[in-house]
Amino acid sequence: MQQVTLNNGLQMPQLGYGVFKVPEEEVYQAVLEALHAGYRSIDTAMIYENEAGVGRALRDSGIPRDEIFLTTKVWNADQGYAETLAAFETSVTKLGVDYVDLYLIHWPMPNDNRYVETWQALEELYKQGKTKAIGVSNFHIPHLKRILEEGTIVPVVNQIELHPFLNQEEIRLFCKEHGIVVEAWSPLMKGRDALTDPVITQIAASKNKTPAQVILRWHLQHDVIAIPKSVTPSRIRENLAVFDFELSADEMQQIDALNQNQRTGSNPDEMHKK
Ligand SMILES: NC(=O)c1ccc[n+]([C@@H]2O[C@H](COP(=O)([O-])OP(=O)(O)OC[C@H]3O[C@@H](n4cnc5c(N)ncnc54)[C@H](OP(=O)(O)O)[C@@H]3O)[C@@H](O)[C@H]2O)c1
Repeated sequence: MQQVTLNNGLQMPQLGYGVFKVPEEEVYQAVLEALHAGYRSIDTAMIYENEAGVGRALRDSGIPRDEIFLTTKVWNADQGYAETLAAFETSVTKLGVDYVDLYLIHWPMPNDNRYVETWQALEELYKQGKTKAIGVSNFHIPHLKRILEEGTIVPVVNQIELHPFLNQEEIRLFCKEHGIVVEAWSPLMKGRDALTDPVITQIAASKNKTPAQVILRWHLQHDVIAIPKSVTPSRIRENLAVFDFELSADEMQQIDALNQNQRTGSNPDEMHKK
């Protein structure tokens, strides 16, 4: 597994396994399957309501805790200093772990304007060693600028919606300049149009790879961390088999040119869900 070195020196696998919308009763089997296939990074969140199942799978896998990179996130309704500290305790209790590797602010919720104090709580959790790294998710450049100006720790990652139809070039450049690694959520566009786009399918056919593998390779070659989700055992393995081929500069450019700024999820500036 290829690792990325985060700005605090911590190593994070460049490919991880996401469990959004995987119900508690299914997530146990799915995470076990992923760990056995070779994934060593699991991405969950309080709002996914499956942290207990994720934690049980980690323990039952027999893989030492320190070989697994575990991410969870503070939900919008729990923003604020004291609320975030409490939400973190709830998450680690459900997960059954004594630390997480990465704790993220799930959405900036700019209209609530509490993400700076939420960030201060993350800094405290980091200083106490309860999380090995702290970062953000769905942050646009103005939100990142405030954290850089008002915080004392630079986020290690910004986890954003990113795929060939939403390539987020501007945020990627800003993050690179500030030592923040970009992590792609819905890296496969939730299994939608990007997977059947003719540019992707033609490149895939020419390399004897699948469209999903070509898209994941595109992420990796852009130095992006990707966390594809699948509950299908064959796809769980397929999505991991992306380290034995390369896209040429021309193929990368062809995929870059597919950008349509097309979201599958909410625009962070307009997100109100609590
Ligand atoms: N921070 C945030 O706000 C945020 C938001 C959304 C997601 N996320 C994180 O990002 C992770 C991934 O995003 P996502 O789950 O939205 O979407 P995704 O990984 O882009 O796509 C998942 C969908 O694609 C299908 N799929 C997976 N591998 C495939 C393959 N090789 N070929 C064809 N179809 C394939 C899956 O189907 P099956 O499962 O049926 O195989 C599923 O329907 C989430 O699980 C979560 O951890 C974070």
